[in-house]
Amino acid sequence: MSDPRRVVVLGSTGSIGRQALAVMAPRLGRFQVTSLAAGGGQVELLADQAAAVGASTVAVADPAAAEPLEARLAARGMNRVEVLAGPQAAAELAGRGGDMVLNAITGYAGLDATLAALAAGSLLALANKESLVVGGPLVLRAARPGQIVPVDSEHSAIAQALRSGRADEVRRLILTASGGPFLGRDRSQLAQVTPQQALAHPTWRMGRVVTINSATLVNKGLELIEAATLFGLPYDAITVVVHPQSVVHSMVEFHDGATLAQASPPDMSLPIGLALAWPERLADVARPCRWDRATAWSFQPVDNVTFPAVELARRAGQAGGIAPAVLNGANEVLVDAFCAGSIGFLDIVDGLAQILERHLAGRTASAPAGVSAGVSDKAPSGRPGRLAACYPDSPVESGPGPQRPRDGLTLEAVRAGDWWARRQAAAQVAGKG
Ligand SMILES: NC(=O)c1ccc[n+]([C@@H]2O[C@H](COP(=O)([O-])OP(=O)(O)OC[C@H]3O[C@@H](n4cnc5c(N)ncnc54)[C@H](OP(=O)(O)O)[C@@H]3O)[C@@H](O)[C@H]2O)c1
Repeated sequence: MSDPRRVVVLGSTGSIGRQALAVMAPRLGRFQVTSLAAGGGQVELLADQAAAVGASTVAVADPAAAEPLEARLAARGMNRVEVLAGPQAAAELAGRGGDMVLNAITGYAGLDATLAALAAGSLLALANKESLVVGGPLVLRAARPGQIVPVDSEHSAIAQALRSGRADEVRRLILTASGGPFLGRDRSQLAQVTPQQALAHPTWRMGRVVTINSATLVNKGLELIEAATLFGLPYDAITVVVHPQSVVHSMVEFHDGATLAQASPPDMSLPIGLALAWPERLADVARPCRWDRATAWSFQPVDNVTFPAVELARRAGQAGGIAPAVLNGANEVLVDAFCAGSIGFLDIVDGLAQILERHLAGRTASAPAGVSAGVSDKAPSGRPGRLAACYPDSPVESGPGPQRPRDGLTLEAVRAGDWWARRQAAAQVAGKG
């Protein structure tokens, strides 16, 4: 038998991280979890996980979590575990490499770890879709062919279906969306929606941000950008369709008219297990569909009037450059504000639309948009003082589709775009207060 695959798990205390550890736990001959990283909000759980897998290194983003973590590790007899702490701790860990790095950190915070894992030459099981959204060209440039394996169920489904044809035979990708908890409602019925209602997803149990993003359909917008980046298809060759049962995880249409779908009950264990064992399948990792019972699947177009987030993301993706980073950065701030009760549900996507428009208008004007009045334009240290200073670094846009030259995107430009978008979103939230 071959040696177990040595796996680094980033975001181990989250929804994906916990499920990944559960998939690997009964398969010790196949996987060896060497190290873990998390934010630092759940040190008890993190110490339990470290003890269970026998981790040699544990990283936490919050420096204040290091001491309590060390105490809990010591209480479990794990005094010799190395503890890394600080905002770059997960990236440092990823940069040390492993056979595989699972990046299940949530949000923009996962980008540096993605780049570090790729630079170290590890296979990257990527749940952190935000990496590909905000820094797509950067991430692709850093990756060798086949180095990134998708964990998102939709992209896993597409990767599976793509195995049955050649790239030049693919005509269209069809991304399925559950529609979220507010499917069928119109805009007027969404104004009073509460965070508790938005967090009650009908088919998936996930982390807070991705659950809210599923309710606004921003998640599907991010996945659209992820799919275009990962699979290299133009945006107009990717269709999003609502499929409330979440059994068909996505599809590939080939040029002879055949459509291949991957179907299984909604359970992330399957795409997580496939990514961890890629390109092989793990036996009995998830329940299959039941075919001895009457069942019905339905598909319907997205209501883009009530849920404009998918088309907003399409616009950001087609614009390229830092536009996706602007969309994502603003969204992270607006989601937090919604969960804190500072803004309403509709303010999330309405705010995104305004900020994206401001970015796109500023980009084409002779003097690029600076930072809005009333908000400091002093960027965090080490970054340019004004966003305008970063515009020359943005790629030249020369039309839709992935063929355009996007390679000029720099990490500095992505950081500036994210920073600017967060400022814009914070100003909008303040304006609502
Ligand atoms: N959940 C799903 O079913 C699902 C499906 C498809 C894709 N995804 C994607 O997978 C990613 C993770 O989602 P999730 O639902 O698992 O999120 P989650 O439950 O919120 O977990 C996030 C994890 O990231 C850790 N973390 C946060 N900031 C960090 C930082 N700066 N450095 C290191 N670790 C950090 C958290 O640690 P603490 O516990 O200490 O805060 C936690 O372990 C997201 O990109 C999401 O879109 C999720």
